[in-house]
Amino acid sequence: MKVAIVGASGAVGQEFLRVLDERNFPMDELLLFGSSRSAGTTYKFRGKDIVVKELKHGDDFKGVDIAFTSAGAGTSKEFAEDITKHGAVMIDNSSAFRMDADVPLVVPEVNAADAQNRPRGIIANPNCTTIQMVVALKPLEKLSHIKRVHVSTYQAASGAGAAAMDELANQYRQIVNGEKPTVEKFAYQLAYNLIPQVDVFTDNGYTKEEMKMHHETRKIMHSDVEVSALCVRVPSLRAHSEAIWIETERPISVEEARAAFEAAEGVVVQDNPEKKEYPMPLFLAGKDPVYVGRIRKDISNPNGFSFWCVSDQIKKGAALNAVQIAEYLIKIKN
Ligand SMILES: NC(=O)c1ccc[n+]([C@@H]2O[C@H](COP(=O)([O-])OP(=O)(O)OC[C@H]3O[C@@H](n4cnc5c(N)ncnc54)[C@H](OP(=O)(O)O)[C@@H]3O)[C@@H](O)[C@H]2O)c1
Repeated sequence: MKVAIVGASGAVGQEFLRVLDERNFPMDELLLFGSSRSAGTTYKFRGKDIVVKELKHGDDFKGVDIAFTSAGAGTSKEFAEDITKHGAVMIDNSSAFRMDADVPLVVPEVNAADAQNRPRGIIANPNCTTIQMVVALKPLEKLSHIKRVHVSTYQAASGAGAAAMDELANQYRQIVNGEKPTVEKFAYQLAYNLIPQVDVFTDNGYTKEEMKMHHETRKIMHSDVEVSALCVRVPSLRAHSEAIWIETERPISVEEARAAFEAAEGVVVQDNPEKKEYPMPLFLAGKDPVYVGRIRKDISNPNGFSFWCVSDQIKKGAALNAVQIAEYLIKIKN
């Protein structure tokens, strides 16, 4: 098994190195790629130094079985042919191919089997906010069809990449030292602030991030569900949080929803109001599961249900989900 990571120096790329090691992913060789900025940098993997190669057009992916790509949509589009032409499966973290009809969009807990049909050799990893939401929605959908979702997200700085995480940490340091905070990665200062915009606006007043939650949820769940999202960048460092309201075909009770969450693959319930127990991003960074809490009926709608959901978006929302897809491919091959 020969594996490649494209975008190795990035927030997601670095997480790939950790997740592949942590899960003891079977491989004989690992190749790392980046732009000219990180080419030549060395990263340690399982005690071995691996030098980042510059991503170029050509035959560098000959013999590669699985390529995990996380270097932005433009890079994925430009290099997809080079990556896949010798048979490598490209598991792509960018938005480049997610909505293409001939590219499966996969969250293993929800629609693993879709990964089997990949005519272009590409499998897309969904947007991080969508991944954690559909993992939590799946067990509820089994109870009663979900007709509508309203979701408000609270997205960590690291969702915008490694440099954005550094910018937030730096802003707090600068403010404490009485300096003017540097603002480059976000439209405004994020420290001590909330920014109700993630990605650019589209014609209907929603942002691209919000429309991704609508379209991708429907594709992954094979559902006609309507999703209305409002995405907010918040000054947490890592792990996205989401307040989710759903409307189901028949009313579902707190007890049956809790039991469904508890039995669901990849979901952990943290919900004990008396003990002030609920999921929080500060404590869940670096963890695998999707955590749910604040589980209750929606008092404004007899068929409504509401909960809070937190997951590490670099891990389950990106690297871990992609590695789970690769593990599924290995499992069905053997
Ligand atoms: N951060 C998240 O929470 C998250 C979650 C899900 C999906 N994603 C997606 O994953 C991708 C990477 O995100 P990130 O947060 O890891 O960003 P990041 O920290 O900014 O890293 C970007 C990576 O892309 C590489 N890169 C950029 N241009 C390249 C090129 N022309 N050729 C080769 N490599 C190139 C960079 O390499 P150099 O250092 O060499 O330039 C770097 O390794 C994006 O598509 C993003 O939307 C991110």
